[in-house]
Amino acid sequence: MSTTIERPATAAPVTHVGRPLDRIDGHAKVTGAARYAADAPVGDVLYAVIVQSTVAGGRIAEIDETATRAVSGVVEVLTYRNAPKIPAFPFDFTVPFAEQLAPLQSDEIHYDGQHVALVIAETFEAAREGAVLLRITYAPGPFQATLEGAHETELPDNFFGNAMQVRRADPEAAFAASEITVDATYSTPVENHNPLEPSATVAQWRDGELIVHDASQWVLGSRAAYAKAFSVDETQVRVLAPYIGGGFGCKGFFWAHQTLAAMAAKVTGRAVKLVLSREQMFTSVGHRSSTRQRLRLGASRDGTLRAVLHDVQGESARVGAFFEPAGVVTPMLFAVPALSVSHRVAKLDIPSTTAMRAPGETPGTYALGCAMDELAYACGLDPLEVLRRNETETDGESGLPFSSRNLLACYERGAEAFDWSARTHAPRSMRDGGELIGWGVAAATYPAMRSRGEARVTIDAAGTIDVASATHDLGTGMYTILAQIAADALGADPRAIRVRIGDSAFPLAPVAGGSMSSASIGPAVHAAAERIRREVISIATSAGASPLHGLRADEVHVVDGILRAKDDPARAIAYADVVRLGGSGALEALGVAEPGKEQEEYSFHSFGAQFVEVRYDEELARLRVSRALGVFDCGRVLNAKTARSQMIGGIVWGIGMALLEETVRDDRYGAVVTNNLADYHVPVNADVPAIDVLFVEEPDLKFTALGARGMGEIGITGVAAAIANAVYHATGVRVRDLPIVPEKLLGGAAQAAWRK
Ligand code: MOS
Repeated sequence: MSTTIERPATAAPVTHVGRPLDRIDGHAKVTGAARYAADAPVGDVLYAVIVQSTVAGGRIAEIDETATRAVSGVVEVLTYRNAPKIPAFPFDFTVPFAEQLAPLQSDEIHYDGQHVALVIAETFEAAREGAVLLRITYAPGPFQATLEGAHETELPDNFFGNAMQVRRADPEAAFAASEITVDATYSTPVENHNPLEPSATVAQWRDGELIVHDASQWVLGSRAAYAKAFSVDETQVRVLAPYIGGGFGCKGFFWAHQTLAAMAAKVTGRAVKLVLSREQMFTSVGHRSSTRQRLRLGASRDGTLRAVLHDVQGESARVGAFFEPAGVVTPMLFAVPALSVSHRVAKLDIPSTTAMRAPGETPGTYALGCAMDELAYACGLDPLEVLRRNETETDGESGLPFSSRNLLACYERGAEAFDWSARTHAPRSMRDGGELIGWGVAAATYPAMRSRGEARVTIDAAGTIDVASATHDLGTGMYTILAQIAADALGADPRAIRVRIGDSAFPLAPVAGGSMSSASIGPAVHAAAERIRREVISIATSAGASPLHGLRADEVHVVDGILRAKDDPARAIAYADVVRLGGSGALEALGVAEPGKEQEEYSFHSFGAQFVEVRYDEELARLRVSRALGVFDCGRVLNAKTARSQMIGGIVWGIGMALLEETVRDDRYGAVVTNNLADYHVPVNADVPAIDVLFVEEPDLKFTALGARGMGEIGITGVAAAIANAVYHATGVRVRDLPIVPEKLLGGAAQAAWRK
């Protein structure tokens, strides 16, 4: 399989795209030179600390600010009684208010953890002391924070373009007529994002203009929301997010703390810095909703699916719009003649749910991936063989062929690298000393999305190459791949290219979500750089003073920023000198890329196979993941190192999802109690084995000329299923309820209970 794309004759012969180039922002990050939102170099700032409600329903009865205002340094206390009026807006695709509730607008309480006051002070310490001393008395009211007893249920039709209630043929009849059936219910808990960098906003109003340093995955979406909340024109708002310490979806939409920071800056006339505490992160920027998924699979004795019925029960905040569309992969991943998928969403008095790494695909590939394993055992067949037998070339949902689908190759390469053929089928049949060993496999998938993207490339008379776009780098490697793409198109060294992103003043970019940034902005950078190269060559071959004067464009090539005559390398001129010859001081080009008609002809998805080994020590009830291998087909790999890192990160999170992570609410109060990293367990080094990542690389040229599909989210998908399946293989116990903590594997009554 080829990994190069067609290159114009005038471009450099080497390609930087694909290479494992070190992050160009790496040095700035490890030396502390990279400034995250809270590090913004804004002088004379005030500090704001949020006070959150301690009840899940009812009203604020009384507020006593006396002790707070007595703290030296406290400048202002904002509550619903004195906060400026801000309208509430519903979520839409361009103005991404995550909550349909503006902060500090009434005494009503909608969930535990709602922002109810803001203390603003000269120092962080004073603001925090003031926040602790604020006396708020509540008149508690009824609330519903659990699925049990929830009476308000929605049956959504559509979620971000995906049908949520799907029917194909007669699934009930096909299920009833199937030789082999599986009927199992899986559940996943609430989970929270825990990026290294908590959300932070530094806001400042200057002459009616709002400047915000923000931990945001969507500077243009945030700009639109600030403009709307404060009734100013978007041109009067600038949002900056050059570095983001991870987001995973919790910085994609617009949250109330952002409004509060800008509100505080407006009220005080000073710059205001607001940083959420780790504890506040658990209720202020969304979470992944819990799911209950009933899966009924009907199949022939040979493991071929005849019917799939997938019923998802999820939850959503009464004040929010998001939920977990866990059935989203079921209509497209395997060949299924008769199918139904349903989603029911209970509206609860909880903080908003939001996008969290592969929302839908993550819990969906877990439940479906486990059910496929159960089917394999019901048929007495190897689980990988059953996956192979249900392969499809068309997307059963849209009826379109996949632009490129190498899932069989992922299975094959993974099986070989993992030594799958050495697996013995029976549960509890593989041991190493005192430990039971289990091997599990599951499919991974994530759609390849793109959106209109723009980028500006500039070369000045000093030869400096600048790439600018309002896109983002969450730690994913965007800085580096954009430099590689521009370098190839220009015939320059990627390290000589300055990439500037995360500024709403730069050309259009979509949210850094949906794994779509590379495919949206990469082609725009490529287009802009191509235009610059053509223009430079045209000047160099036409200007009388140029050593390349009189040559045709195809008689010139560019290497390391130098244009040369192909048949006489001594005839050469540097980019900088061409710019000076051109007389304009700088050359600039805007590149625009957007999806076209191909979207009606093909279904664009990435695929993968997750292979996992677990070891279980029955005497200690100790369960560990001891090997993990992910094999992915994401089209062309733009940077072998950052791509691999993305996949490793996803698999690590999959280990957390399978074995550790769970946000627990105290049902009596509707309050999150695991709101810290001691009680909310994320995988640490000791939980994570060496992880192998392989790519089956086939450039997807039907998708973009660059051939790359997104890499952010697919890594986590399928991991929890592969682990749960490996746990079954090791122990003979099917745990259908995540996380798989040791007590669910213990013998006797506990085991019977968890078997359901
Ligand atoms: Mo993502 S969960 O689309 O940031």
